[in-house]
Amino acid sequence: MVKYEFPKNFYWGTATSSHQIEGGNIYNDWWEFENQGKVKDGQISGSACDSWNRYKEDFDLIQKLNNNAYRFSIEWSRIEPEEGKFNEEALNRYKDMIISLRKRNIEPFVTLHHFTNPLWIAKKGGWLNPETIEYYLRYVEKVVNEFKDLVKYYMTINEPNAYAFMAYLYGEFPPQEKSLKKMLKVLNHMVKAHAKAYKLIHDTRKDAEASIAYNVLLIEPLNPKSFIDRKIASFADRIYNRVFIETLITGKFSSPLLKENIPYAKDTLDYLGINYYTRILMGIKTFFNPLPNTSTDNERSDFGWEIHPEGFYKVVKRFWELTKKPIYITENGISDAKDERRPKYLISHLIALHKAIKEGVDVRGYFHWSLMDNFEWAEGFKQRFGLFETNFDTKERIWRKSAKLYSEIAKNNGITEEIGSLY
Ligand code: BGC
Repeated sequence: MVKYEFPKNFYWGTATSSHQIEGGNIYNDWWEFENQGKVKDGQISGSACDSWNRYKEDFDLIQKLNNNAYRFSIEWSRIEPEEGKFNEEALNRYKDMIISLRKRNIEPFVTLHHFTNPLWIAKKGGWLNPETIEYYLRYVEKVVNEFKDLVKYYMTINEPNAYAFMAYLYGEFPPQEKSLKKMLKVLNHMVKAHAKAYKLIHDTRKDAEASIAYNVLLIEPLNPKSFIDRKIASFADRIYNRVFIETLITGKFSSPLLKENIPYAKDTLDYLGINYYTRILMGIKTFFNPLPNTSTDNERSDFGWEIHPEGFYKVVKRFWELTKKPIYITENGISDAKDERRPKYLISHLIALHKAIKEGVDVRGYFHWSLMDNFEWAEGFKQRFGLFETNFDTKERIWRKSAKLYSEIAKNNGITEEIGSLY
């Protein structure tokens, strides 16, 4: 018997991104960054999972997972490797991917920007340069025109908040800036890019559903009794969890250092994509290094991130109250090379999500991060988020216990009593 049943027509999927799986993305800023030796242990993405060539094999696996959806991204630097020069061959390859998905009854959820930028964009100042907004739109226009009849669900930008933080405040991603002011500027430009892309997508296809994939962290004070820690946590929450998304609701970009009315950004979400992984505790002690923090005894992932399914329930409820838009969980997962904690992580997070659904939250899909182990940005290949293990030498994809479990869940459209009791 299915104990935790999900709504009818629920989308079960996995998520990936171009640079992390395709291999050979030589025209973007990450490729340069990696080749400058800036990734852990000097690793480079290289041929990654070689999905640029093996996508049909990947889609067969998705089918075996009994999934009816797949989230992946289009690599801008493949479509436009040089300014204004579009690569039709690359566009056709993506088109073929989408057709191959559709043939397997898998709904494509397409991300248009997932952390990487064409090198020529980076050289022009990247997202600090307001002109990037127009360049991005030209690329988006090209893609959405091409995919008009094939794609209904879009995410304009993956985790603008995480991107701006990692690249412009914490200096972990290229261009390694460390400035709150610059970070807010980038967020502001990404709001504008999203809002304009949203309109463009709808002008091209009326029934399209467009959103962003938003990284939401449950941010709580390290020491709830400390006034300073509470202030720090609430400041971080505002900048990280609220500024961007609230602008898409109200049209008002309201951050501590930068305020602006952007009326055309108002009401530019058809749904909300939530990426949830963990909770962080913020306070004076963790201000400069919020992740991972070791202040609780809860279990952690290989990355050191706390496993906190209650946080998932809380953020889903909170963002439902805030947006009142249908929610898709566009990412959720754990780095766990041995697959020891992933089964429980998966079940506990789905039960938390189910609870929110039972309480009236309109959740329409869940995408596990990730289909297979892949290039985990500044961490290289060590952090392993895959339902399938990837052998990076042979490119073999190997079933993990969690993949089998997830295929059962998708088949049953929920968690049976039997499976639930195992974890
Ligand atoms: C990103 C992914 C990344 C994952 C795990 C998300 O923030 O969208 O690209 O691999 O987290 O760190």
